[in-house]
Amino acid sequence: MNKQIAIDGPAGAGKSTIARLVAKQLGWIYVDTGAMYRAIALYMTRNGIDSSDKESITAALDNIDVSLSFGDEGQNVLLNGENVNGFIRNEEVSAVTSKISVYPEVRNKLTLIQKSIAESENVVMDGRDIGTSVLPDATLKIFLTAGEYARAKRRALEYEAKGKTADIEEIMEDIRLRDERDYTRSVSPLRQAEDAVLIDSSDMSIDEVVNTIISLYNANN
Ligand code: DC
Repeated sequence: MNKQIAIDGPAGAGKSTIARLVAKQLGWIYVDTGAMYRAIALYMTRNGIDSSDKESITAALDNIDVSLSFGDEGQNVLLNGENVNGFIRNEEVSAVTSKISVYPEVRNKLTLIQKSIAESENVVMDGRDIGTSVLPDATLKIFLTAGEYARAKRRALEYEAKGKTADIEEIMEDIRLRDERDYTRSVSPLRQAEDAVLIDSSDMSIDEVVNTIISLYNANN
């Protein structure tokens, strides 16, 4: 079996930064599953399909192909062949993504694609349901969290780095709403797998978290 590290946790815990670095260090590919959910949300937004209209969303899935390509810059998410990396990381798409990711049809479609990628490559995969549902037999499972304020502060710094203004209170409110949806949805809610290692990164540097994960992996492999 290929090697798999599953990293789950709430929004803003640092999963993508950490997962990317762990993958680089191990020479594996990094799969950002959130980007795949975001690509589906983008399709719905572009086509005027309301996130509460389950029937139309389910029907539209037949017209959507989500795939990934991997270049020097990391993962590209392709929506019907178009690289949509530049369109999926904004507040509008984030809000729609968290709504459409509750539908089992959406989750099933993406879970199948994610499993098949992990069958052909060694992966570090991050998301909300990787250890519990997508890769239940992963070599190592991490549940990465951080306090609400630490997560909001990181998001604010990301926005500022992109030259956007950021209101920490607004970001905290957005994080709370997304957490609530992610933790309480009936299909594959965000939760720590029983065999996952919990890492709270509130007071840890990026390097410390990466080194902790690499040490955990090396200790058992
Ligand atoms: O990790 P992210 O912020 O890019 O995720 C965007 C949204 O997608 C988030 O609201 C939860 C959802 N998601 C999910 O339900 N399952 C995953 N495996 C990954 C993301």
